Order: sequence, then structure tokens, then C-alpha cells
Amino acid sequence: MTSGGSFYITTPIYYPSDLPHIGHGYTSVAVDTLARWHRQAGDDTWMLTGTDEHGQKMLRAAAANGVTPQQWVDKLVTESWFPLLETLDVANDDFIRTTQPRHEQAVQAFFQALYDRGYIYAGEYEALYCVGCEEFKPESEIVDGTGPFEGLKVCAIHSKPLELLQEKNYFFKLSEFGDRLLDLYKTEPDFVRPDSARNEVVSFVKQGLKDLSISRSTFDWGIKVPWDESHVIYVWVDALLNYVTAVGYGADDENFQRRWPAYHVVGKDILRFHAVIWPALLMAAGLEVPRGVFAHGWLLVGGEKMSKSKLTGIAPTEITDVFGSDAYRFYFLSAIPFGHDGSFSWEDLSARYQAELANGFGNLASRTTAMIERYFEGIVPVPGEYAESDLAVHKTVADAAAAADAAIERFRIDEAISAVWTIVDELNGYITDNAPWMLAKDDAQRARLGTVLYTAAEGLRALAVLLSPVMPEATEKLWVGLGAAETLGRLQDQPIRAAGGWGALRPGTSVNGLAPLFPRVEQPA
Ligand code: ME8
Ligand code: MG
Repeated sequence: MTSGGSFYITTPIYYPSDLPHIGHGYTSVAVDTLARWHRQAGDDTWMLTGTDEHGQKMLRAAAANGVTPQQWVDKLVTESWFPLLETLDVANDDFIRTTQPRHEQAVQAFFQALYDRGYIYAGEYEALYCVGCEEFKPESEIVDGTGPFEGLKVCAIHSKPLELLQEKNYFFKLSEFGDRLLDLYKTEPDFVRPDSARNEVVSFVKQGLKDLSISRSTFDWGIKVPWDESHVIYVWVDALLNYVTAVGYGADDENFQRRWPAYHVVGKDILRFHAVIWPALLMAAGLEVPRGVFAHGWLLVGGEKMSKSKLTGIAPTEITDVFGSDAYRFYFLSAIPFGHDGSFSWEDLSARYQAELANGFGNLASRTTAMIERYFEGIVPVPGEYAESDLAVHKTVADAAAAADAAIERFRIDEAISAVWTIVDELNGYITDNAPWMLAKDDAQRARLGTVLYTAAEGLRALAVLLSPVMPEATEKLWVGLGAAETLGRLQDQPIRAAGGWGALRPGTSVNGLAPLFPRVEQPA
């Protein structure tokens, strides 16, 4: 992508009734890293996240807690969901709540537009509904209950009984969009990524689409259907629309033109809503479809999809309190191929923290700055003539920066990090091979010593720039430690697509005592 293009990216809007766990955190840090990368590349970037506050699940949770649904969501969003962003260092540009007037008004406008264009009709409906999913379940996702639910039909995902709903509903003519959707998947092969997700979506649509029930009349915690106040809009339609209402649909055309369409990053559990229903709704309204939908995999704990309802939920703070937010971000984004499932374990997290962050990157930074302090009184030395081993470092840095940018274009954050990590590995080997502590003993090697330490420091400069979207805190410390802030300006302003060029760090600037980037941690019991 050339610099300056619009890059709008979203997380799902989460149900606030669940407390945030590491799965929500995973999506949010992935999206934040992609957004930070593009922002630092000079793209016109916008990152949106938020909460999905209507629907029966929320209504029931509020009732069970003896408060109104609005009081319930206000409390959860303030006490749990805003703080999640602080905990994980997420620099979102906006946070949308579906109970905000800006959203409710624009949802009604969208709904009216669909109705006026002839895509909504009234009908009778009878089907099995899962409140956990907030979805009428297809045959394939209904199973026989066991234990206390023996004899009942239960949801294959939640293992809880389904409810038979029979009511007058408004329907969206989803069935009319099958061909146009298949055409979209064909002409835009990257519309759904990764390939496994794309294949699933294509075969689902090929089986034929049924019209979608898009209103409910047995409860009122939702946005009213504009022409029939006895109905509220189906919570999933309400929720999907956040992606356009947040950037001015129906209210601020200029902003809407500037931002839309978006890239959506979601967990694979909600892929169909995003890759089938959502583009069909947009087509029906005469709007552009998203730029793409990327479905990542599940975090597994003990081999099962981690979830609060199955009591395997881990709060992000359990990890950040011990290892810090950078380690959280680095661990999930580097250890799991983006798009695949990944198993979480404390052992794996500790081992990678120690090997890759503390011993690999952190130690490289500490020993390089310590040697500049010891041998050059803290002043970044002037490099002399470059030898072959130095030029190999330049090439590694250039190649890594280019490979990382290409990987980010494919949404493969894990591959971007592993490309950047070739710099860490190369520099550690380079320092061992060149043994600056030996060069320092020989006055005749003074110029060579300067070249070696400049090379290491300049490599660290590139690492700080390239890793700042992933680990904003540690790279900021490194940036200040290298003395780069004084001559090159703020880290987040360093153009990331130029990070692979050699020689940006200025000789003559003074390094500042660098505390360990990744201190030793007390292992959790
Ligand atoms: O579905 N592994 O909200 P939600 C990885 N409100 N990611 C996980 C995860 C896990 N084990 N568990 C959850 C909803 N996630 C709707 C969305 S969007 C218009 C409406 C992440 O609170 C993942 O991103 O159930 C998943 O898609 C999302 O949380 C579901 O969040
Ligand atoms: Mg869910």
C-alpha cells in the first residue's frame, strides 16, 4: 500500500455481559498492532472497537442483577471494558456503544432505507433460538442435550437448551444475495481470509441462503423498527451496523466517504455474520462492501476453546500484572500463526518471555548501550569503513523491514514479527563474533570498535521502529535509551516503511542509562 491511503480497521464489538478475557484481548491487540503499523506508515488510519449492548442476553443478565439494562451495561463498560484498553495499551481512535444515540439514529435510517428499497417484508416465524449466540440455529448446530438437559435440543456451541420462538417478524431477503456474494468471493479472493475461512464461507453460501429474521417483538431492549414500534431490530443487525454508524453513516457523509470501507478482524465464531450477512445488508442498502474480513482462530486452554461460560476464562490482567502488556501483545501475536487456533499455557508464555524477550531482545539492548557507555562515554560512535559482516547486518535489516511490511499487508502479524526477529538473532550473533570487549583492549582497534557498536545501535534503532506497533512500551524505553528521541523525534512518528534504510541513528548523540526492557519475573505458582 502506498502511504496516505485510508486504512479503517475494526474489532468485533464485544458483549459487555462477559468479563474481558484473553480471547477478547487477543483480537484487540491484533487490530491495534495492525492499526499502529499503518498509522506509523502514514496511512490515514482509524481503529474502532466497542460494545454490543442490546439483545436478550443483556436484558436477562440485568434482570438477574436487579438493575435496568442501561444501568447494567453502563457499569460493565466503565468498570471492565474501558480499562481493558488501558491494560493492553490499545490506541483505538473511537469506541462505539450500541446504546449511543449516534448509533441508534443511524441504525434506524439504515433500516428504513432497506425497507424503502424493498428488501424487508413481514412474516411468521417459528424456530429454535440460542440466547448465548443471539441466533436462530440452523439444523447443523442443534444437538441432543445430555445430563440435566436430557431430552431437550441444545446449542452445539453453548450446550444450553434452545428456545422455541414463534412470532411475527420482519425478514431481510438474504436469499436474493447468494449469487452476488459468490461473485464477490470470486472477484475479490482476499475478501475472506485466511483460505480456510474463505472456503467455509463459499460452501455455506453455495448451499443456498434463507431469508433472515431481523426483528423481535417479545422484548424491547433494542432499537425500535422505525415504522413499527412494537418491534426491535435484531441484535446482530444492530451490532454489525456499528461499523458504519461510527464513521458517520447517515450523519456525516464526508467522514463516511473518507473512512468506509473497513477491514474487519473477527474470531472465526462470528465469521458468517461478517462475511455473508453483513455484505448482503450493505449491498441491499447500496453501500460498498467491506474491504475484507479476516477471521482469526481460537485461543485454546487445556485443548478447549477458552470461554467464560466453560470456566476456562483467563483475565488479561492475570498476565499483564506479571509480565506486562508488551509481553502479552508479543506472546499472542508471535506464538500463534494469525488465522490458526493456538494453545495458551503459562509454561509457554514464561519460556518465550525468558528466551525471546529477556535474553534475546532485552539483553541485546542492554549490552549494546552498556558498551557504548563503557567504551565511548555514552556517545554513539562514528562508524568507520564497513566490512562484510557489517554489510550483512544492513541487508538483514533491509530485508526484514520489507518482509515485515509485506506480511502486515497479508495480516500475518506473526510472520512480520518473525521477519523482524531475524535482526535480533543476527545482531546477537554479530556481537558475539565481533567481541567488542576484545576490540576494546587494543587501541589499534578503536575505529573497528566504533563501527561494531554503531552497527549494533543502528540495528536497535530499526528494531525499535519496527517493533513499536507490537510492543509500544519497551520500544519507547529503548528509543529514549538510544538517545534517538532528541535527534529523530517521537518513535511513533518514525516512518515504518523506511525503517530498513541504514544510518538513521546519528553518531554523537548520547545514550541514556537503559533499565532492563524485560525484567526477570516471579513465576506465577
Ligand atoms: O460475538 N479465542 O461478541 P463476543 C479467540 N457481540 N478469540 C476469542 C475467544 C477465544 N477463545 N473468545 C472470544 C460477539 N474471542 C458479538 C460481536 S460484532 C458486530 C458483534 C473474541 O463478546 C473473538 O474476536 O462474544 C470473537 O469473535 C469475539 O471475541 C466474540 O466476542
Ligand atoms: Mg461469544
